[in-house]
Amino acid sequence: MPFNRLSLNYGMLTNTCSINYFCTNTNIIKMQFELTEEHIMIQQAAREFAQTELLPGVIERDNEQKFPMSQIRKLGELGFLGMMVSPEYGGGGMDTISYVLAMEEISKVDASASVVMSVNNSLVCWGLETFGNEEQKQKYLVPLAQGIIHGGFCLSEPEAGSDATSQRTTAEDMGDYYLLNGTKNWITNGSSADTFIVMAQTHPELKHKGINALIITKDMPGFIVGKKEDKLGIRGSDTHSLMFQDVKVPKANRIGEEGFGFKFAMKTLSGGRIGIAAQALGIASGAYELALNYSKERKAFGTEIKNHQAIQFKLADMATEIEAARLLCHKAAWMKDQHLNYDRASSMAKLFASEVAMKTTVEAVQIHGGYGYVKEYHVERLMRDAKITQIYEGTSEVQRVVIARDILK
Ligand code: CAA
Repeated sequence: MPFNRLSLNYGMLTNTCSINYFCTNTNIIKMQFELTEEHIMIQQAAREFAQTELLPGVIERDNEQKFPMSQIRKLGELGFLGMMVSPEYGGGGMDTISYVLAMEEISKVDASASVVMSVNNSLVCWGLETFGNEEQKQKYLVPLAQGIIHGGFCLSEPEAGSDATSQRTTAEDMGDYYLLNGTKNWITNGSSADTFIVMAQTHPELKHKGINALIITKDMPGFIVGKKEDKLGIRGSDTHSLMFQDVKVPKANRIGEEGFGFKFAMKTLSGGRIGIAAQALGIASGAYELALNYSKERKAFGTEIKNHQAIQFKLADMATEIEAARLLCHKAAWMKDQHLNYDRASSMAKLFASEVAMKTTVEAVQIHGGYGYVKEYHVERLMRDAKITQIYEGTSEVQRVVIARDILK
């Protein structure tokens, strides 16, 4: 079946409410557990794309650390790179649940492709649409949302990972432009992206309140793509250090007011964490489906291994934990769509789903036995891919900080 660009045949979703859902100790809010027809359509389109476009060659791309450029371009043409952006700016106008469903399906097969999708949708497009001005949206958001180009998000530095306020990259105020100098580390889409949002310090005496968020393009003189990281997992994605040497960034490229950069990063990451939670969910459910199918085929001690309780208990635990992770992801997405505060919910979803991804993929390898340890069966790659979901866009420890602060405030 040929794919249609999602935005062409997809209207705005309606949220009908049917089930009481306890959100906080004091408030009862309603949440729809049933997917709409549109949701199912998007889920199926993403599943089909993953099977037909991403599965062929996924092992080779992982081996060779090859970026899935043609597949990313196709994802862009279909509308998967700007799913939540308003159609006015070239996006699909979809809700966050749709995004989570698509992320799960793509991540089941190729987490290297889904991280590109996640960074572009949640960190770059969402940040620009929510906080950018009209000129920035027309110039940068439209091609990003249409998937003609994709973007990167530059917060981490050699000495500022979890401790994100300690930005050493400087954006010196030169009147009508900023002079950008410094190094960013572990940047997803580092060599493939065209447009980056870079956090940099303008007034160190103001600490995090002196940080600005600036839009950079790869053709700006002084922008240097540094070392490509040789990673454990998501090896098809291009992770680089980036250097800025006297890059002149027009003031018009600053997002929001002077000093808004750190809050911009935190607010944007809050939504980003829903995307990574959905990626972790997809890695877990992909590994689970492979293990389930394998258990029906592989025979040991005279019967399919699914008939052994040792395997049944593993499958039962995997299915239960994946379902719980899915509910947390969907709840966080739903809260975002309802314009409720979703900081705690997104951290809970990411914390839990990433731990489930790690645990489930280890068990999927175990169920596959010796076959699980070789590349052909996919589960060892999913196990390697799972690990990064506990690290990027805030480690599991950072998610616990966010959750604990919210509980105790
Ligand atoms: N929304 C709005 N503002 C927020 C916020 C949020 N969600 N979270 C924090 N802030 C504000 C605070 O209110 C505070 O502002 P005021 O001083 O005006 O009150 C300011 O930000 C500083 O906050 P904290 O005092 O809480 O700062 P902290 O130093 O204690 O750090 C932290 C908090 C949660 C640990 C934060 O530094 C953090 O999230 N660290 C992890 C960074 C991260 O996720 N990096 C990922 C890199 S991007 C990536 O991985 C993308 C990729 O390529 C895949």
